[in-house]
Amino acid sequence: MICRTILNETSYFGEGAITKIADEIKSRGLKKIMLVTDKDLLEFKVATKVCFVMDDADIAYEIYDKIKANPTIKNVTEGVEFCRDCRADAIVAVGGGSAIDTSKAVAVIIKNPEFADVRSLEGASPTKHKCLPIIAVSTTSGTAAEVTINYVITDEEKNRKFVCTDPHDIPVVAIIDPDMTASMPAKLCAATGMDALVHAIEGYITKGAWELTDMMHLKAIEIISRSLRGSVKGEPKGRADMALGQYIAGMGFSNVGLGIVHSMAHPLSAVYDTPHGVACAMLLTPVLKFNAEATGEKYRAVAKAMGVKKTKDMSIKEARKECIAAVEKLSADVGIPQKLSELGIKEKDIKFLAESAMADACTPGNPRDASLKEIENLYRSIL
Ligand SMILES: NC(=O)c1ccc[n+]([C@@H]2O[C@H](COP(=O)([O-])OP(=O)(O)OC[C@H]3O[C@@H](n4cnc5c(N)ncnc54)[C@H](O)[C@@H]3O)[C@@H](O)[C@H]2O)c1
Ligand SMILES: [Fe+2]
Repeated sequence: MICRTILNETSYFGEGAITKIADEIKSRGLKKIMLVTDKDLLEFKVATKVCFVMDDADIAYEIYDKIKANPTIKNVTEGVEFCRDCRADAIVAVGGGSAIDTSKAVAVIIKNPEFADVRSLEGASPTKHKCLPIIAVSTTSGTAAEVTINYVITDEEKNRKFVCTDPHDIPVVAIIDPDMTASMPAKLCAATGMDALVHAIEGYITKGAWELTDMMHLKAIEIISRSLRGSVKGEPKGRADMALGQYIAGMGFSNVGLGIVHSMAHPLSAVYDTPHGVACAMLLTPVLKFNAEATGEKYRAVAKAMGVKKTKDMSIKEARKECIAAVEKLSADVGIPQKLSELGIKEKDIKFLAESAMADACTPGNPRDASLKEIENLYRSIL
């Protein structure tokens, strides 16, 4: 088997890492930056920290601040126009997955204009050219969009989210500066952190997993499990560790894929605008139960990485039970809702949600093949 690995050209981790942005822009000979973010991140003085770095270095930039959570096709189309109008030769994306994903779509289309309709990039995108250089600065600790080769866009007309996978879209530079995540409120921190845990677990059990990515995913599970609770309480060490844990998970899953937690989460965000991390966190337990028999010894390793003691003395059945219990406890401790009905999800939509999940690009990666009926029942089990 030949296993491909794609990572950023350069990444910086640590408090103050955003100061490296100026050197990176200058050493790459970039002249004009499109800064992609949202209004809240400017108002909360998060994105402004990056503006100060560029101001101090006399770097020319213009700000596109219209990103919405679960970004839409309109965000992409407007972003492309903005990028052309301001003649940017690079993008600095400051935000969570939404700002970074939109930046990827814009940067890809600028260099591959024949794909102006972003829908044509769904799945494995057949682009020919590397996207405009992106320097991605993450402000949440979850999606790891700064290191992945995926982006996810919402098609509001069709009520669906679609995933595009393209080696040409990876940010050249990733900046993981825990200080940029300090302002996350507890709920956002919990949801995005659980998204990171899902990436690590789905990446570890997905069909394409191999030793290199196992190493990343198990380390990520260990870091996330020991630091998410503290991070949600606002402890600086927890925040810093989560920033690292989610990045390591991204290095792994981006190269091997995910599974049906993600396929089933995408339609919930498309139809109900459910935050991505919340949707993933709620679906993780039922999907882990569904996949258990198809994962060999893997849940034992996940349980151990999550801090469960004496896993090697357990039968595999016990180890799987302990693994699922550890996930459930972490999710409850950080306040993730338990029932989809709490978020307004309705029985009448389940068929559409399940059909949409079946068509999602993450579905083939699931360790156990799922039928439409089984996916419907998984939604129902937490309705
Ligand atoms: N590219 C990938 O590989 C990948 C992987 C998983 C998910 N995604 C996608 O990423 C998106 C979700 O991204 P996300 O979970 O990072 O959230 P997000 O980018 O949608 O941000 C959610 C909200 O949090 C706010 N926010 C972000 N950082 C903050 C901070 N430091 N302080 C205060 N508020 C802050 C934003 O303003 C926004 O309103 C979804 O569309 C999802 O499908 C992408
Ligand atoms: Fe995710």
